[in-house]
Amino acid sequence: MIQHPQVRGFFDPATHTVTYLVSDPASGRAAIIDPVLDYDAASARTSTRSIEAVTAALKASGLTLALVLETHAHADHLTAAAHLRHTTGAGVGIGARITQVQSTFAPLFGAGDVRSDGRVFDHLYSDGDRFALGELTVEVIHTPGHTPACVSYRIGDAVFTGDTLFMPDYGTARTDFPGGDARTLYRSIQRLLALPDDTRVFVGHDYLPQGRADHRFETTVAQQRNENIHVGGGVSEDDFVAMREARDATLSAPQLILPSLQVNIRAGDLPPLENDGRRYLRLPLNAI
Ligand SMILES: [Fe+2]
Repeated sequence: MIQHPQVRGFFDPATHTVTYLVSDPASGRAAIIDPVLDYDAASARTSTRSIEAVTAALKASGLTLALVLETHAHADHLTAAAHLRHTTGAGVGIGARITQVQSTFAPLFGAGDVRSDGRVFDHLYSDGDRFALGELTVEVIHTPGHTPACVSYRIGDAVFTGDTLFMPDYGTARTDFPGGDARTLYRSIQRLLALPDDTRVFVGHDYLPQGRADHRFETTVAQQRNENIHVGGGVSEDDFVAMREARDATLSAPQLILPSLQVNIRAGDLPPLENDGRRYLRLPLNAI
């Protein structure tokens, strides 16, 4: 019998991110995927307002948070994973190749407290790993390309792709971050497109493409395979790579890349206290 997790998406208009609350109807065990910590760049102020809406929904449904899952180290928003860990005790999981992302970015921020061994996370997942969420089984699919550490989580008839696939009318994510690669992304996407046609696909962001006014974040493998404007209808690997690299060359850095990465390689913990009792983010000049 195919498992059918309950899924609720919470869209964050500030960063276009979708945080998912996924639960096992039988046991009430739940996971939160890609939680957002609100961050106002002008005032450098963080807030837990968005993630509290998710945890309120979790409590209202009588669910228990068992896990926090990251699809990758995001460059566009700060993760609320550490907040969830500190407030609920739930462990935080991410792809094992996060060590590569930590190695790249910890020196950029002079983050001497960050060990590039992934151990600030509770669970490091490799391709093919399986673990339980109540009576559901979560399967990890390593889907590098956007970043080297990206993973997708397949739970029964649902798959959470992070930034490996976006809605069919928007396409795919950029591949120009360190360790990103368009050819690798194409191959990762082929693995997702090989899942059963009616698999529910939940994407990590929705940026409204021209001609659409409502945010959407759920589609199916069949729709992606047939209609995705970047990879659907049998687009070849070489054509995809040429399109993706040309498009990436026009993109500027995400607004929150510097605040995000230094927090996200720490699993969402803010940088350590300095001598004056404050925490500071670092903005390396002319470094990216
Ligand atoms: Fe991303």
